[in-house]
Amino acid sequence: MNEILFVIQSIIMFIPALIANSGAVITGGHFIIDRGKNFIDGRRILGNGKTLSGFAGGIAIGTVTGLIIYAISSFSGYALGSYGTLYDAVMIPFVMATGSLTGDIAGSFVKRRIGIDRGGKGGLLDQWPFALMAFLFMYVFERQYFIQHYVYIPMIVILIIVPPIHRAVNIIGYKMHKKDVPW
Ligand code: CTP
Ligand code: MG
Repeated sequence: MNEILFVIQSIIMFIPALIANSGAVITGGHFIIDRGKNFIDGRRILGNGKTLSGFAGGIAIGTVTGLIIYAISSFSGYALGSYGTLYDAVMIPFVMATGSLTGDIAGSFVKRRIGIDRGGKGGLLDQWPFALMAFLFMYVFERQYFIQHYVYIPMIVILIIVPPIHRAVNIIGYKMHKKDVPW
């Protein structure tokens, strides 16, 4: 039972990495990162779907979400994990969200290289890079927290549940006319 609670807690603490993507959809659209330039293969480096406003706005919204989770968890007398100080409460979601949106950019880069245009269906290439990069960023910048809370079961569980969550969120975004395609 304790193990299950532990995994659920790790998933809750991962919400900033998930929300960062929705934040990018809301704030995106300004200052295209690759400035319209092509890569050596003649295709766009990243495409029009990757903008600075989406990147920065997504990080900000992800970080604030993490702070809200921290506030709720500590007011309810249940401080989540070693998410102890206010510094951690800002840094950990910031690192997660920044990793998430960096991974999202990496995913788009790979999609362009294999010939999938902006907005084309990438399957796991839409769903995994952001999560994997969020883990890598945590490993690099918040290693103790990462090892304590995500190695290995929570990480595996998150990688399994992220694709259906990503899909569901994008269907909702599509129905709300925030996204042009339901993936
Ligand atoms: N977005 C953005 N900047 C980012 C990430 C996302 O502006 N760094 C916005 C864009 O408006 C984008 C939307 O969020 O169209 C959805 O993001 P995503 O699905 O990642 O982009 P796609 O348009 O599908 O492009 P790609 O094929 O490169 O994933
Ligand atoms: Mg997409």
